[in-house]
Amino acid sequence: MGVGVGTFTVTRRMRELVNEVLDTGRISYGPMSREFEYQFARIHQSPFAVLSNSGTSSLHVAIQALKELNGWQDGDEVIVPSVTFVATINVILHNRLTPVLVDIDPLYYEIDAALIERAITPRTRAIVPVHLFGQPCDMTAVMDIARRHVLKVVEDSCECMFVRHAGRMVGSFGNVGCFSTYVAHLLTTGVGGIGVTADPDLAAIMRSLVNHGRDGIYISIDDDDRARGDELREIISRRFNFERIGHSFRITELEAALGLAQLEDWRSMIAQRQRNAARLTALLSDLSPRLQLPAVRPATEHAWMMYPIALRYENKTRLTAHLESAGIETREMLPLTNQPAYAGMFRESDYPVAEWINRCGFYVGCHQGLTDADLQFISDAIHGRLDSESIAHAEAEYAIHRA
Ligand SMILES: Cc1ncc(COP(=O)(O)O)c(C=O)c1O
Repeated sequence: MGVGVGTFTVTRRMRELVNEVLDTGRISYGPMSREFEYQFARIHQSPFAVLSNSGTSSLHVAIQALKELNGWQDGDEVIVPSVTFVATINVILHNRLTPVLVDIDPLYYEIDAALIERAITPRTRAIVPVHLFGQPCDMTAVMDIARRHVLKVVEDSCECMFVRHAGRMVGSFGNVGCFSTYVAHLLTTGVGGIGVTADPDLAAIMRSLVNHGRDGIYISIDDDDRARGDELREIISRRFNFERIGHSFRITELEAALGLAQLEDWRSMIAQRQRNAARLTALLSDLSPRLQLPAVRPATEHAWMMYPIALRYENKTRLTAHLESAGIETREMLPLTNQPAYAGMFRESDYPVAEWINRCGFYVGCHQGLTDADLQFISDAIHGRLDSESIAHAEAEYAIHRA
């Protein structure tokens, strides 16, 4: 197998907890899910967490709940970055809201806070900063803008967890933070999403929406276990009440068990990713006239879900083809403005940084499963390709493109 962007190693603790679920026979939302929610929320400095079956589902119910609670109208606007995974804007569209793109910062690849205010209109209701590639956005600036313009904030933290900006954990700045535990993410349960919030009303509506819009009095099959008399009669009378149009976004105890086991060693996982990223940067630094290597924002920790690289002048395709043929997996840095699905909705040329990233940016893995030899192999492969072409050639190609 080559050098992939993600990793998944089954540990003894994972087997233990999954077997515990299988031994009890309880697979619907129960003790493992509750404990996973509790611990994940606590790590992310938030009082409440709501599990669902994906990061997309978590974002979907977060926005739907905010729309319900705040009386947003169809067509109201939500600000999102010009580079993100399609799910970020799909959930806005599915909620019948209008995504308004703001270009990204050319160094950190996340929403450029300096451009947000000019995108705000009387119909703007929220900002969705996306902590891309494992790095928190400039949440100090985003929260300041949100406070001044009375906007809600939904952190798309599907690519980032366990790290702080300005001393605070990702996901705990906005009204809600949404995480993904999909394959090749930082904490991997196969499928899975989790939303954290300090707002009990928002948490209750999100939980209801994940469960078909059900009355919060009866979400889990244990919810009537200890009830007697009037309380039991109340639960029975309401347990088939559906208060809003919800979804079947539930997850099982099996994924929660996998997540809970991984919460026992997230610190070493993040530390290894940080070491790997620093090693890659050291190995590639002599190429920095041609490659923009990832930068870490001041007062910010980076979780390094992946290692983004942007060619300063050249189209990436020759380099990525070379890496792929050597067995090194590469991925696009999440092109959005050029997707057929949004034809007519955005003009790529209005987002010059996104346009550059779409043409010249890609990422490779830097996960905890990579060895020093793997990192050296990635570096050698990149050098092997770039050393065979001069910088003059790259600049000439760039000049042709700009003309
Ligand atoms: C930025 C971003 N948002 C949302 C998602 C959606 O997460 P999921 O795949 O769990 O639905 C992803 C998934 O990779 C993502 O990268």
